[in-house]
Amino acid sequence: MKFIHKKTGVRVALTLSIALLLSASATAQTVPRLPQAEAEARAHAVLEKMTLEEKIGQVSMAHFFRFLEGGKSGPIAANAGDIFAQLLPGATLNGGGDAPQPNTPRGWADALRRLEMLGRQNLPGGVPAVFGTDAVHGVNNVPGATLYPHNLGLGAAFDPALTQELARATAADMRDMNMDWDFSPVADLGRDPRWGRFYETFGESPWLVADQITASVTGLQSGGVAATLKHFVGYGSPGLGRDRANAEISLRALHELYLPPFKAGIRAGAMSVMANSGSVNGVPVHASQKILTDLLRGELGFKGLVVSDWNDIDRLVNTFKTHADLVKATAASINAGIDLYMVPNDVEKYGAALKEAVTGGLVSQQRLDEAALRMLTFKAQLGLMDARPAGSGVITEGRALAKRAAAATLTLLENDGTLPIKTGRVLVTGPAMDSAAIQLGGWSVNWQGVGKGNVGYVPKVSTLATALKASAPAGVTVSALPDGKREALLRAAKTADTIVVALGEAPAAESQANNPKLALPAEQVQLLRDLMATDKPVVLVLMAGRPILQPEDLQNRLPVFVMAYLPGSEGGAALADALYGRAGFPGRLPFTWPGSLGEVGLTADRPPEGAGDAPLPLYPLGFGLDYTAYRTSDGQAVKTADGVKVTVTVTNTGEKAGTATLIVNASLPPAGNLEAVKRPVGVVRAELKKGEARALSLDIPAERLEAFTGDAFGAVQGKVLPGQYTFGIGDELVRLSLP
Ligand code: BGC
Ligand code: BGC
Repeated sequence: MKFIHKKTGVRVALTLSIALLLSASATAQTVPRLPQAEAEARAHAVLEKMTLEEKIGQVSMAHFFRFLEGGKSGPIAANAGDIFAQLLPGATLNGGGDAPQPNTPRGWADALRRLEMLGRQNLPGGVPAVFGTDAVHGVNNVPGATLYPHNLGLGAAFDPALTQELARATAADMRDMNMDWDFSPVADLGRDPRWGRFYETFGESPWLVADQITASVTGLQSGGVAATLKHFVGYGSPGLGRDRANAEISLRALHELYLPPFKAGIRAGAMSVMANSGSVNGVPVHASQKILTDLLRGELGFKGLVVSDWNDIDRLVNTFKTHADLVKATAASINAGIDLYMVPNDVEKYGAALKEAVTGGLVSQQRLDEAALRMLTFKAQLGLMDARPAGSGVITEGRALAKRAAAATLTLLENDGTLPIKTGRVLVTGPAMDSAAIQLGGWSVNWQGVGKGNVGYVPKVSTLATALKASAPAGVTVSALPDGKREALLRAAKTADTIVVALGEAPAAESQANNPKLALPAEQVQLLRDLMATDKPVVLVLMAGRPILQPEDLQNRLPVFVMAYLPGSEGGAALADALYGRAGFPGRLPFTWPGSLGEVGLTADRPPEGAGDAPLPLYPLGFGLDYTAYRTSDGQAVKTADGVKVTVTVTNTGEKAGTATLIVNASLPPAGNLEAVKRPVGVVRAELKKGEARALSLDIPAERLEAFTGDAFGAVQGKVLPGQYTFGIGDELVRLSLP
């Protein structure tokens, strides 16, 4: 058996072109269902008859438990219709806390249908409130729904077609439960792994993430729900990696790094954008007209709905202290470009503040009308102005898809030959070997993960311990022991041939998930140390939403290291296939893995050092081993109408079939400002049989080759400069002069 050597491992793959992705979904029912002009005309007709109070209600989003009995988890309240008539909300949401009763797909479908009907009866123009939710890896709040890997793992799969399929399946489940609007996908970049939402991103690299965003938006909207690009913009680089801390972003970084995923999503037709809850350059984004209007609508041409993030107008007053009171904060936010406020609790207080802002002349009638019109247009496009059939209340059994998705994410970082496990006694242990909570991560049942909050439900998942036992090949025996009884465990370790230890982060979301030291809990590190001390082959399987740093005595000594990200419902089954060699490891890192805390923030697109050597990560972007190896040859680059096409022949030189995934990097001619030594511009990827060679090509649109020229504090302009470009794919370097 041959293995690719660490760090020299070649990576390859064929990304479906954007055109192909779009055509694959062309037959599906897509939102918007009405052309913009028609939807707007219908919205106008409703708006014309609305009072000031009704318009104010229209631009407010209320928590849906306002309509449940007792104001929290429970059945729809008997007076829910009156509450609608009183609050007049344009939208409702569930943020991942409470749930209707019964808390089943049928219960959700019935509750949301009932709210739709009550909205038709009690809201102006008979237009119901639109319901939005965070279905960010499957419909993660609903018991019984299949949960897919979190985005970071999908970033590692480098397979936008898969991302599109998962988004489409999620949308289908949502429609079955009468849900219209998904607060997904996260178009932020994962550039600081300490950040609590790193796992919600598709990775660090702007254009690689952009391809995933196109896929996700297309999948969701072709499945009949509105997508939300979040969180515009710069949310992924908060100071010190702390959620919602200020981000300092230059105009160059904004254009070169942070905008591409949003541009891609807008081009794919995303119907809504959610504002960044934090601040950029000292200005809260919720009060930034430059960001929410000039940049988003002016420069990027976005025409849809801008929704605030959770309670973020209040945050201007209470947390950021940038505005003296709610009336001033409301005026600043609405004037900056927020159309809909996710209040979500004290809708009455917000209504009073907005009314005061309008009657006092701080917000114009015209701006309020514009925001309300966008809300109504959004709902017209979703079909909410027309009678429509109820969702079935029955969701799809997505286990096969979940397993395929988890398998695509798995990334092998070290292997001394212990894998695949072919024979002998296997001992499996560690807190992640049988924990639905760890395996699913945050935004699962509760926004903080399984076991948190009011809802006690624990999803059924395929765990590593169960799957290793259930699918052991002949000649392999498996025993699973909890790590708590250390003596018994170490005794059992003495007679084992291979030890599989599954470690992971406790589930969490947002600031609660910040991990400033990139560390696992001390008990887990000690467990690993104790097992390594047995001198038996140890296979570390890590379920985590970021790169984790091991202490120095362990870091470079792991014989086998599998990164499983947060693999979802079928993580165990997928891992067992890979560990036993029935499947390979197609995943490649979608981020740079730092070797020390000092290297946090190191990314592949770093510009040249001014002095000294460039820092070397522990594992670079795109790194991953497999049971086979690849060679590249015959690199070529040619000009096309809209950019450059690169082609490379990739040969599977090993003994097994596998998925070759290669990042294509570009080096630009001198631009007058620092550019990345290597800028990732796309990926080629293909499954190759043993011995198979195939020519793979990638079309690189010209915009991916733009340099962002301009002086330090001046305007920045993107242009493709004349000169020589170098494209790197695997071991091939090809040069091409443009124009
Ligand atoms: C909600 C979450 C929300 C969070 C905001 C929670 O109470 O359930 O959905 O994201 O608050 O801080
Ligand atoms: C999060 C958003 C989420 C919203 C609703 C906020 O706290 O930042 O990503 O969509 O809550 O749950």
